[in-house]
Amino acid sequence: MKKQVCKVVFPAAGLGTRFLPATKAQPKEMMPLVDKPIIQYGVEEALASGCDQIIIVTGRGKSAIEDHFDVSYELEKMLEERGKTDLLAIVRQISEMIHIAYVRQKEAMGLGHAVLMARELVGDEPFAVILADDIIDAQVPCLKQMIEIYNETGCSVLATQVIEGKAISSYGVLDAKPVPGKWNGRLFEVQNLVEKPKVEDAPSNLAIIGRYILTPAIFEMLDSTPLGAGGELQLTDGLKQLLKKEKIYGYTFEGKRHDTGDKLGFLKATVEFALKRDDLGAEFRQYLKTLEL
Ligand code: G1P
Repeated sequence: MKKQVCKVVFPAAGLGTRFLPATKAQPKEMMPLVDKPIIQYGVEEALASGCDQIIIVTGRGKSAIEDHFDVSYELEKMLEERGKTDLLAIVRQISEMIHIAYVRQKEAMGLGHAVLMARELVGDEPFAVILADDIIDAQVPCLKQMIEIYNETGCSVLATQVIEGKAISSYGVLDAKPVPGKWNGRLFEVQNLVEKPKVEDAPSNLAIIGRYILTPAIFEMLDSTPLGAGGELQLTDGLKQLLKKEKIYGYTFEGKRHDTGDKLGFLKATVEFALKRDDLGAEFRQYLKTLEL
């Protein structure tokens, strides 16, 4: 029987240079969208997709992430004494959410290297990777949609989205052909992948987005993949090796993706998430209408 996808790896050792100075002393994964750190959205997506084993790949200066998912006795005591039961429930829910394992990536050597750090914790089973920067707002969690495809195919699945114009150069890009059948044109069989190509070299406008379901064979591939773009071990290059052995699918998920690793993307996501909130949305909408734009 095929093994189930239960584990999700969150690479979180990056330096967050795109958000300096905010990320000088604070992990970018802890930047709040309204009032919840970015990484918590990803962890909640994993849980809602049926994955309850979380592995976070951290680095220096990332202890705030561990503290966030840990029990905070002082805070809980203070909230209890002051009778702030609503806030107490929110704080407790975070630490009770899930069991998390942490592994350190000692050097920032790329996404492929970060994933390789989780090899022992993942073992010989399929697993998911979530890049917390990419927040996907969807009725059915993106990861859940992808797990469904893994369960049918038994192959690695990469989330993909059409990116128009020169922005394609910021992504891994797929050369892929649509799979006919029940997937409504959303499923593609990958023929090749290129990390951050020049616009003129991009094989298509299908960009890889930060959700992956990977078979454990990826570890062996990454282990023998030479450093690629930017002198880093690229996950895309490891996938290219994997493609020689196994089929890989691309999947255009249903839902809206926010690139919160980008300043403009972060601002847009903040506005959209705030507008959706029961406690803030109406007043915030009123306020936005008063702005002379
Ligand atoms: C990484 C991957 C890239 C992928 C992107 C998705 O790049 O290397 O293939 O398209 O995530 O967000 P990064 O954004 O870390 O430079």
